[in-house]
Amino acid sequence: MCGIVGYLGNRNATPIILEGIKRLEYRGYDSSGLAIIDGNKNLKIFKESGKIVELERALPGPDETYGTIGIAHTRWATHGEPTKINAHPHTDSQKRIALVHNGIIENYQLLRKKLEEEGHSFESETDTEILVHLIEHFCLEEVSLTDAVRQACKLVEGTFGIAVINRDNPNEMIAARRGSPLILGIGNDEFFVTSDVSAIIIHTKRVIYLQDNEIVTIHRDGFEITNLENERIDAKISEVDWDVSSIEKGNFKHFMLKEIFEQPISVQNAFRGRLMEKLSTVRLGGLMMNGNELKKIKKIQIIGCGTSWHAALIGKHIIESRARIPVEVEYASEYRYKNPIIPENTLVFVISQSGETADTLAALREAQARGATVMGITNTVGSTIARESDAGVYIHAGAEIGVASTKAFTSQVTVLTLLAILLGRMNHLSPTYGATFIKELRSIPGKIEKILEMNDLIREIAESIKDYTNALYLGRGVNFPVALEGALKLKEISYIHAEGYPAAEMKHGPIALIDENMPVIAIALKDAIYDKIISNLQEVKARNGKIITIATEGDKVVKKFSEHVIYIPETMHILQPLLSVIPLQLLSYHVADLKGLDVDKPRNLAKSVTVE
Ligand code: F6R
Repeated sequence: MCGIVGYLGNRNATPIILEGIKRLEYRGYDSSGLAIIDGNKNLKIFKESGKIVELERALPGPDETYGTIGIAHTRWATHGEPTKINAHPHTDSQKRIALVHNGIIENYQLLRKKLEEEGHSFESETDTEILVHLIEHFCLEEVSLTDAVRQACKLVEGTFGIAVINRDNPNEMIAARRGSPLILGIGNDEFFVTSDVSAIIIHTKRVIYLQDNEIVTIHRDGFEITNLENERIDAKISEVDWDVSSIEKGNFKHFMLKEIFEQPISVQNAFRGRLMEKLSTVRLGGLMMNGNELKKIKKIQIIGCGTSWHAALIGKHIIESRARIPVEVEYASEYRYKNPIIPENTLVFVISQSGETADTLAALREAQARGATVMGITNTVGSTIARESDAGVYIHAGAEIGVASTKAFTSQVTVLTLLAILLGRMNHLSPTYGATFIKELRSIPGKIEKILEMNDLIREIAESIKDYTNALYLGRGVNFPVALEGALKLKEISYIHAEGYPAAEMKHGPIALIDENMPVIAIALKDAIYDKIISNLQEVKARNGKIITIATEGDKVVKKFSEHVIYIPETMHILQPLLSVIPLQLLSYHVADLKGLDVDKPRNLAKSVTVE
């Protein structure tokens, strides 16, 4: 949510920070802006509402925007509408200091009142403008900008990742964080600040992930990190292992399509090095728990939001059925407010692609405050959830840029399935089952590839449903959460209202909605409950519902009542979601694309939701 990029070096900052925020546009895209200091110590600010392309169009020629220090921001509005005036950077009263900010200042009204009493006046409706005025308040002649930022940070309640420049000193940039991610990039005689490494990895892969309440002071020849008590911090430099191609669209029209097509590899990366053929089990070293500790687990809680929550529901089904350990799946946003019960020997998992989702982070902290051991399942190395969890498992899906989560979902499901087998083998699953599972899991990437070959067929089916305004997704057992996920994908990028239901539950209400205007997308795979779901679909057919069925290769029955059938390869029951979700992702993608919508940046959404 919102993206920050800053640059201090020998090159022209403007194209670098502009390109940087474009790479972060998936995080927020309702307005944007940048500030540079030119060679004559002029602070120049450019802002626009709308997508970054509007800012780019509005920029004057290169001479007017040249400066070797600059900060930029792409916004997802929280306080104040996405107007030009509310866009960042914001400045102090004297237009000396410019600041970009991710996060929310919770006590901004109180601070605003105090500052107004001192004579400050504000142009925007944002909480951010208060912060830059607060820095100005402390930035007296004998006080360094770093100390002024430090004093301001001490007074602020809430979350922030900020980058600050002062026109009086074009050789210095300050950045600080609490609760919002912030990264220092170290290049050759140049430095970067960003909220997300994808903005800078074309320039450098050497980074420092700043910790909460740390402030970095960057000069042209080096940097220093301190904390709120002004103690010096020796931070570790990490090497980002992402490839630049992971943040490019390549030949794909959208990131979402690219990411759907990456799943044969991303799923493989989620299980790579974790299958132990000899013992017919799996290994999840990141949990840092030995066999004795794992055997003591009596209950599991998995907490997440959105698509991650759907992956957790699949995890519940598989862990309960294979490891026989009860699992509770919780919405992170509800967890901390419900006075959660965490019995002894409960292992808590938080699951988050971004590792920065505010609700999930708050739930993690609540569970830890109640004495629980909390494991993180995340995609993002160095993220707040990765750092604050007691231990955890990375899903290794690579950068996910499309706002609608696709490959992260299948990687999360893969990791949760591995967890189920690990725990199941410790309890009562046989080596034969373990060996069959490993063999079958290894075949999944090839089977996903086969489904991806049906892309053109799925686009044709999408054409046939794109003008409807509602859709119903049905699934049973382990495929019920897949139905939920299919419905979420459709609504978030194509704005078609969609619901996911356990197929048999339909007759308890939603059946009233079925008529020729309601496409029903059903997952009806050959397994123990196949006959049941076929009966449910007959009920839809009898009411003129238009049925699109995801079926097992070779199934001739479903053809009789389905308008369209998408055949997917057969697999073990617990691995079905890894296949059944792929056509649903493609279907949503094509519906949105055929409707001419901005697939990667759906309205009102942002990639990582860092506000509660
Ligand atoms: C849906 C989607 C969201 C996220 C949710 C949690 O496509 O992307 O529902 O799944 O905001 O995000 P993470 O997993 O980053 O915590």
